[in-house]
Amino acid sequence: MWRRGHDPVSFAGHDVIDAFDRQSWQDRAPDRGVSAMFNIQHHERIGSTNDEARRLAEAGAPHGTVVHADEQAAGRGRFGRTWFSPPGNLYLSVLLRLDLPATRTSELSFVTALTVADAVDALLPKQSKATLKWPNDVLVNDGKIAGILLERADAAQIIGIGVNVLEAPRNAPYKTATLVGAGGIATVDGARDILLASLAKHLEAWLEHGFEPIRAAWLARAHPIGTLLRASIGGRAEEGVFAGLDESGAMLLDTPDGRKRIVAADVSRGASAGT
Ligand code: BTN
Repeated sequence: MWRRGHDPVSFAGHDVIDAFDRQSWQDRAPDRGVSAMFNIQHHERIGSTNDEARRLAEAGAPHGTVVHADEQAAGRGRFGRTWFSPPGNLYLSVLLRLDLPATRTSELSFVTALTVADAVDALLPKQSKATLKWPNDVLVNDGKIAGILLERADAAQIIGIGVNVLEAPRNAPYKTATLVGAGGIATVDGARDILLASLAKHLEAWLEHGFEPIRAAWLARAHPIGTLLRASIGGRAEEGVFAGLDESGAMLLDTPDGRKRIVAADVSRGASAGT
């Protein structure tokens, strides 16, 4: 039995978030903190929090279920890569049941990137600001500090987030960063709560105002329009000038062969990639 301290609106046997429920869900935020908005399930060690969130989704777990682990034995990154997951970092997956058309779920990638960037900013010294790289990498001083893996299960959306609090992979093929290394003061649980509060805020704004303000906020934090980027996928690479995002969040790249619309890729700067 799943409990979050109120009677959820139920649909097809699941706890879904519709306009009414969304309001009551958000109303609980200010006075009761993230534990009232999210049902956090903590594990000392797990394979992958995304896998566990998928299992819970298939078992009918409601909107707002969070799987948090101190360590992952089989943490997964984008494109089937391994995500370095020793103790000392934040690993969590949030299960959402959003009543949205599938065509809009790509927007969630940008909502989550902004969520994580704001949380990272809150934990870093004032002068430091996280930046973003398409589609959802979060960087500090050009080093990747967090990764986001979005998946679907049983009509639920799963947002997997890994944040380097103390540890970063030593031999990653890109520059890395950690919160503590960048001068931040953070415990993993403190970072988790700030992150979840930030997620609640950004989800609310997105559901209320749509993608346009999210897209604008993402662009304001990302590589500027005009930046030379390289997009690689499956052994192929396109190099060109960043020309913005289309209305669904696809990256527009002006290449020597014309404008390309990129929906999935690893992106790095210019010809000699740093991150
Ligand atoms: C990336 O490749 O940038 C995405 C990394 C996502 C890692 C997080 S850690 C928590 C969640 N569980 C996983 O197995 N992966 C995601």
